[in-house]
Amino acid sequence: MNDTHHGHVTRDGIRIHTAEDFAGMRKAGQVAAQILDDIAPHVAPGQTTGELDRLIEGMVHAHGARSATIGYRGYKHASCISTNHVVCHGIPGSAIPTGRNEKKRTDDAFQDGDILNIDVTVIVDGWYGDTSRMYIAGTPKPFAMRLIQVTHDALMKGIEVVRPGNTFGDIGYAIQSYVEAQRMSVVRDFCGHGLGRVFHAPPNVLHYGRPGREAVLEEGMFFTIEPMVNLGRAETKVLADDWTAITRDKSLSAQFEHSVGVTSEGCEIFTLSPGNRYYPTWS
Ligand code: MF3
Ligand code: CO
Ligand code: CO
Repeated sequence: MNDTHHGHVTRDGIRIHTAEDFAGMRKAGQVAAQILDDIAPHVAPGQTTGELDRLIEGMVHAHGARSATIGYRGYKHASCISTNHVVCHGIPGSAIPTGRNEKKRTDDAFQDGDILNIDVTVIVDGWYGDTSRMYIAGTPKPFAMRLIQVTHDALMKGIEVVRPGNTFGDIGYAIQSYVEAQRMSVVRDFCGHGLGRVFHAPPNVLHYGRPGREAVLEEGMFFTIEPMVNLGRAETKVLADDWTAITRDKSLSAQFEHSVGVTSEGCEIFTLSPGNRYYPTWS
């Protein structure tokens, strides 16, 4: 990394960071990823989203970190927990929205076979680490497992094309073309984002697109890639609580998120699982 880049912002408003900035993001990303590792054994049928969030808040503080989401635009929790057909921004402690062909759900306890995304963002020494993963309560349905696998692979296919000279459109294309070939759909209503010493910065990182479009990737850019994939149609709607986003057709949805930094060779993933808790050992 080259110090002449210090403080530089591109024409698209994207900040170019230094080698010391990479060290800050590495620390923050690893705290967030360690929390996602440590919460895994607590996910089970009967467990509640409210209790998981309390555990996560305690873990954030045990690391000497701060939660980026508590107090963010009026949000009150240390995590978002999005179950089944909830696409993102599920509120811990709120009743899990009732899905298609389900008996009415009135509490925040998991049922056998539920799939859920836990999204945690921490601030460590001023740097933001933002990551999410899928978990399973009990025994998953085969089609739910396949959705989770495809969503994780889609994120990694997006990350594979992160290198200087490629574009954000290349990332979106890699994700969209893979997902649609599996006859699943990519959510368009939410996107990834630049981050660093701020939570959300330019650019919007779309999970669909065309090769060669959008801004060119440069060494020192930091951003998230966080595709949401639906088994049914892509459309979403936000519930009356103003946060919870669900699929309009109530089909299952999954998401994985990493925070990455562009290097001279490709990229560094700041939020890799310290315990390598990925398929088949997510939870
Ligand atoms: N962590 C989410 C993201 O990936 C943002 C959550 S904002 C909250 O960008 F307020 F809903 F927590
Ligand atoms: Co994010
Ligand atoms: Co996030």
